[in-house]
Amino acid sequence: MTHVVGDWGFLNRLNKIIQTKSGHCVMLAIDHGYFGNIPGQLKQFSCLEPLYEYADALMLTRGMLRSCVPTNIDKPIILRVSAGASMLKELSNEEINVTINEALRLNVSALTCSIFVGGEYEKQSLLNLSKLVNWGQEYGIPTLAVTAVGRDMARDARYLGMASRMAAELGATMVKTYYCEDFEQVTGIAPVPVVIAGGQKIPEKDALQMSRNAIDKGAVGVDMGRNIFQSDSPIGMIQAVRAIVHENVTVEEAFEIYKNGPKGLL
Ligand code: 5RP
Repeated sequence: MTHVVGDWGFLNRLNKIIQTKSGHCVMLAIDHGYFGNIPGQLKQFSCLEPLYEYADALMLTRGMLRSCVPTNIDKPIILRVSAGASMLKELSNEEINVTINEALRLNVSALTCSIFVGGEYEKQSLLNLSKLVNWGQEYGIPTLAVTAVGRDMARDARYLGMASRMAAELGATMVKTYYCEDFEQVTGIAPVPVVIAGGQKIPEKDALQMSRNAIDKGAVGVDMGRNIFQSDSPIGMIQAVRAIVHENVTVEEAFEIYKNGPKGLL
């Protein structure tokens, strides 16, 4: 059973992310550039703004927040505060790069970092998460742990379940992990809300099926990036994902929503 402990400020922040009506959430992930992963649409980042209204929360880095998100936005911010590695070197070699004062100044609703279970810098990444959890307890800020998957790590329920469970036991409020076969074993072993990452761009119907499966197998939502903004209809796609997450529609119904969406972002 999912049980979240916290005081008023902590729960107020969390309730802005996980919608109280459905118990679910759609996060728009736009933090890719922090380790040098710059997919197509991110080259014109400001044009992603039309997507923001369809997300329950934006997950991003502070540079992106400051330069690409209007200050009058009414969306909770999940701030990535880990950095220090690029795709050109060892990805697990991250540290926390944002102070708690800066996060508070940015009025964020949650903090996030990656953990690399089995990675070269596993310990460092787990202690990064612990640092965020400690800050979160002190300042009332939920933590989203991302179970990053290095080149040599399996994407199966055993590995992702273990990594998600570890994140929960270290005190993460929510876990973001990858969808896999037998995903109910991942959600079943992690006693906190779980969202799935979208991963690399796949055909729209497959991404919708993955979202449907994840919800059916106990995820509270998705934290999706490329499968939304690299779609030929990013607005149609985020609306379709939203319908699965919040309105429990079928994949066929969601696919119709996507097909009826405007082409491009304008
Ligand atoms: C990487 C991340 C990214 O935010 C996330 O995976 C990107 O979303 P998507 O895979 O859907 O493009 O946390 O560790």
